[in-house]
Amino acid sequence: MAGRIPPEFIDNLLSRVDVVDIINQRVPLRRAGHEYKACCPFHDEKTPSFTVSPNKQFYHCFGCGAHGTALGFLMEYDRLSFPEAVEELATSVGLEMPDSIAFQQGPDNRPLYELMEKAADWYSKQLRQHPEAARAREYLQQRGLSGEIARDFRMGFAPPGWNNLMEHLGDGPEKLRLLEKAGLLSTGKGRQYDRFRDRIIFPIHDTRGRVVGFGGRVMGEDTPKYLNSPETPVFHKGKELYGLYEARKALKDIDALLLVEGYMDVVALAQHGIRNAVATLGTATTPDHLEKLFRTTPRVIFCFDGDRAGREAGWKALETSLPLLRDGRQAAFLFLPDGEDPDSLVRQIGEQDFRERMQQAQPLSEFLFSKLSAQVDMSTLDGRARLVSLARPYIDQLPAGVFRDMMEQELAKRSGKSILRKTPANTVRRNIRGGARPTLMKPVHRAIALLLQYPELAQLPDLPENWKQQDNPGARILARLLEILRAHPNYNTAVLVEHWEEDDIRHHLGKLALADLVVTDDQEEQFRGCLLRLEKEARQNSASRLRNKLRPSDMTEEEKNLLRQLYSDKKNR
Ligand code: UTP
Ligand code: MN
Repeated sequence: MAGRIPPEFIDNLLSRVDVVDIINQRVPLRRAGHEYKACCPFHDEKTPSFTVSPNKQFYHCFGCGAHGTALGFLMEYDRLSFPEAVEELATSVGLEMPDSIAFQQGPDNRPLYELMEKAADWYSKQLRQHPEAARAREYLQQRGLSGEIARDFRMGFAPPGWNNLMEHLGDGPEKLRLLEKAGLLSTGKGRQYDRFRDRIIFPIHDTRGRVVGFGGRVMGEDTPKYLNSPETPVFHKGKELYGLYEARKALKDIDALLLVEGYMDVVALAQHGIRNAVATLGTATTPDHLEKLFRTTPRVIFCFDGDRAGREAGWKALETSLPLLRDGRQAAFLFLPDGEDPDSLVRQIGEQDFRERMQQAQPLSEFLFSKLSAQVDMSTLDGRARLVSLARPYIDQLPAGVFRDMMEQELAKRSGKSILRKTPANTVRRNIRGGARPTLMKPVHRAIALLLQYPELAQLPDLPENWKQQDNPGARILARLLEILRAHPNYNTAVLVEHWEEDDIRHHLGKLALADLVVTDDQEEQFRGCLLRLEKEARQNSASRLRNKLRPSDMTEEEKNLLRQLYSDKKNR
């Protein structure tokens, strides 16, 4: 690898990987509450003290003190250099390295990918050139799609007939076997023939832009309406999302992704300028789908029909998403009017109104509480107590963090506080761990630790600013952290720590990211408190500099004011 890896690349990379996946592939992890545990791979032990936090995207061994991010783990465990670890991670999430040396793992699927690519090219060429393609183009036009959108999504046409594709790409038994492996052939009565015939073709890309499957729609009333590629070595319906690659290609910053049900919904929305829609492939939403989505965006909006079936599907999606909602991730629900799908609705109300509906999608908390509240009589004490026991199992599935604390508070508010058990479980656990007494930490360190562990704090309005007058490494790091988080609210602890190139800063930040803060729900107050104390320190420092100026006539008016403030600080202490 030549040259330095740009820090933005590392940020981007770390926001897409999950340290739990990375470690679990090498050291099998066991779930323990909201974290994962194993016997430490870096020292000899019988009881597990190696802990991985999905929230912080950080690992830590309480036995030997080893700690770090996914990158650090790969460097230690796989004995990789920094650029090698970066490349390994990038490959695992399909990020292209600037000057990467391609290396192959597992079975070689390259011939399959090449074949899928050729097939996609061939289908799209048929849409433009085949003598019978006029029908297909007319169909697309009648559904309101332009040639430009058809091109952006690489739409195609599988002509009628049993063996067009076979004849084109299947010369020789080896090619035929490959076509079959790619799911492009069907077999019946001992004969093989083209799987997709007389259909509009939707190629499905993985996030790296490789064609992994196809969907095909009839142009009339035939059944099945849609035919999809079967599972193949490169295509897994439970993992792929239609339109995700296209969305990432079209948009630089994806602040939200809209998850819809159909191919046509995705392309119709794109046709109306809404390029951030993706679809599952006729299956329920899986945790893998959600992980993929949250690696691209902090906010997922689930879009469903407003009817009963749609609401039930919405509830299932809520249940699937709960364990994945670590801080910085958001889920919302958009239920459509009866009888409409996103395709029909956007054609009816247009881009602006549709976007407004997306913005006003129901937050997960509202969906959860309104559904559960409807099952009890909220006017009675019993009913409200019952709400607590109904909501408890759902809230317990959320990863520890600010969002979960907020849900606890919301539950307390809705049910009447007295019947609630307070104190989230993690407070107790943190205390047992011991470590530096938080009160002994310098305010600047404590502020940094709070920010690393609760990155949302950076978004608070009206934070004190004057502490920035302090000119020391700690204050500079704190200021930089705030700046980074304001530009990238979805960065997690790991991304933040890896942002610094200097080993010693990274090491120090890593420790602060793990420090016992013993906070439950007053992080905000504590953070403001730290900043105020820093301001006071800043004032005292400049005041003591002032005192070295002997005569008041040497002071500026501003400096005199500072001095006055110092004296009043002293009185109030
Ligand atoms: P819908 O039946 O809601 O179709 O299926 P749609 O998306 O509104 O399509 P149009 O507007 O009639 O063209 C939603 C999704 O379910 C899967 C497909 O992924 C489809 O996009 N599906 C549906 C199938 O896989 N097979 C089918 O026969 C029908
Ligand atoms: Mn439709």
